Amino acid sequence: MAIDPTSPIPKYSQLREILLDWIEETGLGVDDAIPSERELGALYGLSRMTVRQTIDHLVAEGKLYRVPGKGTFVARPKIEMSLALTSFTEDMRARGFTPDSQDLARRIDPASGHLARMLDIEPGSPIHHIERLRTADGEPMALERSNIPLSLVPGLDERSLAGRSLYQLLEEEYGILLDSGEQTIEAGICDPTDARLLGLPPGSAVLLMQRRSFANGRCVELAISTYRADRYQLHSTLDPRR
Ligand code: GLP
Repeated sequence: MAIDPTSPIPKYSQLREILLDWIEETGLGVDDAIPSERELGALYGLSRMTVRQTIDHLVAEGKLYRVPGKGTFVARPKIEMSLALTSFTEDMRARGFTPDSQDLARRIDPASGHLARMLDIEPGSPIHHIERLRTADGEPMALERSNIPLSLVPGLDERSLAGRSLYQLLEEEYGILLDSGEQTIEAGICDPTDARLLGLPPGSAVLLMQRRSFANGRCVELAISTYRADRYQLHSTLDPRR
């Protein structure tokens, strides 16, 4: 395909489509190099600035990555975050990754007014607060901060979650089978502490997720999670218009 100078579509957008097609058609894989900006400019009769603009966009979208002094390479596809009441462990296993977790904090706190409202308990009631770094094949993926009323899971603080699924533990040891949930997801910027834990440059984009999960109408968990935006994208099927 060539650049059409008469098209109303900006040249950098045309080049974006050409490059994406070309990557697909040539079967270029993850970490394979694409031609240099100079080569692409010469090939498509474009200025270096236009080529750079296209590459900048594709890097920002997470489709390509640059290594200073080495070139531009095809990035790993992002993990599709499904909008379902699945656990991190299930999600990662289904995608062929080995999930794991590291406890960052485990404590019992009195519920603040806000947490109590979200969990539908009395303010000041004890809650388990669990902070975990979630990894897939050893790579940090997300930080998850879970709040669970103590009355529902007495003794949870004595049980190790190392390498273990919280949802599985709730089911197997407390007979709690989560059956519904609600979730909000918004864009955010990673603070320096979370960035360090996730191995990201400070100020990186993240997806902030808040999930309330229920069993038999009772709120069991309020989780506030930070997912790497360079590794995750949302995916959902769409209902027909009514
Ligand atoms: C998801 C949810 C969290 C939940 C976690 C449980 O990632 N966002 O709210 O705590 O799953 O995962 P696991 O059962 O693997 O510990």
